[in-house]
Amino acid sequence: MSQANHVLYRPEFPRSDSYDPEWVMDNQMGPNALWLLEWLCASLDLKPDMRVLDLGCGTAMTSVFLAREFNVRVWAADLWVNPDENWKRVCSAGLSDHIFPMRVEAHSLPFAREFFDAVISVDAYHYFGTDELYLGYLSCFVRPHGVIAIAVPGLMQHIEKGVPEHLSRKQSNGHAFWEDECISFHTAQWWRALWERSNRVEVAVADTMPEGWKLWRDFEIVLESAKKNQFPSVAEALDADQGQYVGFVRLVGNRKEGIAPMNLYDPGLIAQMNSDNTDSR
Ligand SMILES: C[S@@+](CC[C@H](N)C(=O)[O-])C[C@H]1O[C@@H](n2cnc3c(N)ncnc32)[C@H](O)[C@@H]1O
Repeated sequence: MSQANHVLYRPEFPRSDSYDPEWVMDNQMGPNALWLLEWLCASLDLKPDMRVLDLGCGTAMTSVFLAREFNVRVWAADLWVNPDENWKRVCSAGLSDHIFPMRVEAHSLPFAREFFDAVISVDAYHYFGTDELYLGYLSCFVRPHGVIAIAVPGLMQHIEKGVPEHLSRKQSNGHAFWEDECISFHTAQWWRALWERSNRVEVAVADTMPEGWKLWRDFEIVLESAKKNQFPSVAEALDADQGQYVGFVRLVGNRKEGIAPMNLYDPGLIAQMNSDNTDSR
């Protein structure tokens, strides 16, 4: 049921429009995850019953969206958010047969090789996926021709010489937009080159959200006026930037066939090496 005219209504995101704005604001961890996901899903061909890993799912709003909109089965995987809390949200949404919350660290995934049809990650991949070897690892868990799709905050142009002053200065609320973690913000071209170099996926999409900065700013304004922002608002810096540097980036890659598995993060490797060394003494 459409709730057009509510505070989060955006004609370009009709699916997101059917979610209770209070629920969206109460469970947000930054930019509006449903808008990012709806944008990302426009480039995907999700089919009922597919197995989907929602990597860095946060409060599992995106997992609820995926299960409800596409009738897929979702492994709602996150590091910081307690899976017990996510399970309560999943049960309240009536999706306990479709969503399986778990605590994971993205470099130590407890899944069988080639288990997933899709890995989807919203506003999270930049925390763990900028390492050159990471896509090689993650792609082990996706079947051939399966998909890896991410939407992240990113750069609209490469920052050549130092962070622009309007992003690094303190806003009137005393908070600066640019924090040290923002070094993992990159352009769509940067992400494309990283993924292409890995030789694990065919990159089908690498682009930016039209007027993404505006959507981000407007969501921040709504959150602040509802007093539901988890972090100090960054609306002022986004407004000063006007999308020159900051916005959202989307990447979709289709897993190639016949690639060699790569798991250099596996703690089991160290145990194996230690035991090999002991044996050869
Ligand atoms: C900004 S929140 C976004 C959450 C959610 N996707 C959303 O958009 O509402 C980033 C999420 O990435 C997850 N994350 C960060 N590093 C991670 C890692 N190494 N392994 C798994 N999840 C990680 C955090 O637990 C956090 O919930």
